[in-house]
Amino acid sequence: MLKEKIAALNLPVFPSTREEAIEMLCREEYGYLPPKPISMTWEDEIIVPRFCAGKAPLHKVTLNCAMPNGKSFSFPIYVAIPADGKAHPAFLHINFRDSVPDLYQPSEELCDNGYAVFTVCYNDITKDDNDFTSGLAGVLFENGERKNDTDCGKIAMWAWGAQRVMDYILTQPGVIHERVTVAGHSRLGKTALLTGATDTRFYCAISNDSGCSGAAITREKQGETVKSICEEFPFWFCKNYYKYKDNEHNMPFDQHWLIGLLAPRYAYVASASNDLWADPASEHLACVAAGELWEKDGFITPDRPPRIGDSFHEGKVGYHLRAGEHFFSREDWLNFMTFLRKKG
Ligand code: GCU
Repeated sequence: MLKEKIAALNLPVFPSTREEAIEMLCREEYGYLPPKPISMTWEDEIIVPRFCAGKAPLHKVTLNCAMPNGKSFSFPIYVAIPADGKAHPAFLHINFRDSVPDLYQPSEELCDNGYAVFTVCYNDITKDDNDFTSGLAGVLFENGERKNDTDCGKIAMWAWGAQRVMDYILTQPGVIHERVTVAGHSRLGKTALLTGATDTRFYCAISNDSGCSGAAITREKQGETVKSICEEFPFWFCKNYYKYKDNEHNMPFDQHWLIGLLAPRYAYVASASNDLWADPASEHLACVAAGELWEKDGFITPDRPPRIGDSFHEGKVGYHLRAGEHFFSREDWLNFMTFLRKKG
């Protein structure tokens, strides 16, 4: 049943190399990621020594990036590493807010389960609007003008910021460097997938309710479409993407490529039953299509659309459909930890 559904969509075949897939997604959808900094320094300040009962003091670290164009760009991140002298797997959460803990981030529970938790607030990288004059956008674009149709949108800039957090994480002895998972919700779930897809240093990338232009197959998608997302949020993408408004069937790619770029590493897609705008069935189908890109055991699912309460944790791609609204809930995080624990 799922195989027939996928076949009927006529999805573009994944290219023979990762590089070609990244090139296509960047050129046609997100824009090219900004260049890496030439060097990075940081300042580290403990802001809540007794965070998590003193088991994981909360630090604010300011990352200062020297950019190839001679300008510099700084942004803060928040860091809680269990202080038991051991090295820990980590979550890097790209969040809507800079509060720690947060509505979307159960920091203490994550730390108590042995995770180091790194948080970056997307607005600290560049604001979520059509203004390209401030933050990282201001450093990249003269007069805030995106001249080329492939110039990056805000999702690509947020992904760039998360990759700089990874540069920092790799200097931290309290973290197992091969076990860093990037996670985000909704527009930031799209961002988390792009971050992990284009940077093989990440162990796993998690999309929570990311839907259109994130984890959901675009062809025949219900709810949000390329047209609606490009009209409401044109600044998330490069200008080339606009040509696929009402023209999804001519896209030379689809979103299973983004998930497939995580192979042979891990990917996770989470859906919520009432989130029809994101379209759980299309998110699930993307996992099915992407699963083929792993040599074996990519995505293991029963041969039917997902049902509320399903969680598929056996393959390299994890998936769950929880009851409720578009939200980044504790239940989502618990599922992610269950999946990751199974992988060792
Ligand atoms: C809007 C948008 C979605 C996005 C969501 C969010 O609903 O249409 O594409 O994922 O916002 O980020 O919360």
